[in-house]
Amino acid sequence: MHIRNVGIVGFGDIAKTYLQALDHCPMLRLVAITDIRPVSATDIPPGVQFFNRAKDMYQKSSIDAVIIATPYDTHAEMAIEAVFSGVDVLVEKPIAVRRNEFSFVASTALEQDRLVVGALHARYGREVEWFLKNHEDLLKKVPPLTSFLVRLNDPYMKNGMVTTNKELSLGTPWLDSGINALSILNSILAPLDVSELTLESVGNVGDVFEFHTLGTYSFTTPWNKKGKGIIECSWGEKSATKSTRLGFADASSIVLDHGKETVQLIDSGENVVFYQDCRNDRPRLVNHYVRVLGDFATALQTRISNLDTMREINTHFFAVLDEIENLKKVTA
Ligand SMILES: NC(=O)c1ccc[n+]([C@@H]2O[C@H](COP(=O)([O-])OP(=O)(O)OC[C@H]3O[C@@H](n4cnc5c(N)ncnc54)[C@H](O)[C@@H]3O)[C@@H](O)[C@H]2O)c1
Repeated sequence: MHIRNVGIVGFGDIAKTYLQALDHCPMLRLVAITDIRPVSATDIPPGVQFFNRAKDMYQKSSIDAVIIATPYDTHAEMAIEAVFSGVDVLVEKPIAVRRNEFSFVASTALEQDRLVVGALHARYGREVEWFLKNHEDLLKKVPPLTSFLVRLNDPYMKNGMVTTNKELSLGTPWLDSGINALSILNSILAPLDVSELTLESVGNVGDVFEFHTLGTYSFTTPWNKKGKGIIECSWGEKSATKSTRLGFADASSIVLDHGKETVQLIDSGENVVFYQDCRNDRPRLVNHYVRVLGDFATALQTRISNLDTMREINTHFFAVLDEIENLKKVTA
């Protein structure tokens, strides 16, 4: 396996997590960073070049691949620029905010023979990976699945106002966390056959529309049982809640806590009958990105991207975005 030189475009919050994760990925060597904003020299690791424009980085550095970690609405454009500059790409979620943008990224990558990989970090939670390895034993203890509830909520709003600059980089709760919820479901219920999707509500938090998205789904699981599911993404909570609850026919449930990196089996009387702590000594997001980068390094060798998975996930992601637009028109 060759060691690949990588660059990062967008040196904000998540890029700092990438820096920590890269320390655990010997097959990827960071050689360049780009940000349109000035960056303190002490934040740039020794020996890494800094640029103000991605174009300059592509022309003047020795990168083979780039990580796009800029705000949500720039990803497709940045990925296409990178592909045309001859480098492979790992792009933050969402890859695109419109269907035609996503199709253009995918077709350009194919035409230019470059790899574009989506960073589906939530799917790499240690609790998700533990469940994937051990679910057969766990599922022997419960009757068929009848429901799911994925809650990915952050406390970014207070009194109807976004209290951080996250709106600029993350967009809205659905743009930020919808892909995360869908990527978790896609891996643990794969193939997630969502037969019917209705967006129950896109509520207000304070005066701001769209900061609470509640999607309800009908689904069929690999265990051939139909059920109902809910995905909730909101920025109006008092504290962060990141969990997936799988509900079973006897009212027992399996809860994956994505914040605490734990898995619990809870019986119908709400007693915890099984508990697995999946934490290690690293922060949870670093764990996610060590795996994202490990799979990216493998993809660079095998030349196989995850765009097919992204396509499946995006079907549901864009369907909710369409529903949000429809609801906006109705309420305008
Ligand atoms: N923050 C998180 O916890 C987190 C977690 C997972 C994924 N992400 C994803 O990462 C992306 C970035 O989020 P963030 O929280 O790091 O945002 P951020 O605002 O902290 O960082 C974005 C950086 O990109 C830079 N930038 C903007 N346009 C640029 C351009 N054209 N060229 C070069 N640099 C440019 C900005 O100056 C900024 O430094 C988002 O898509 C988000 O969904 C963030």
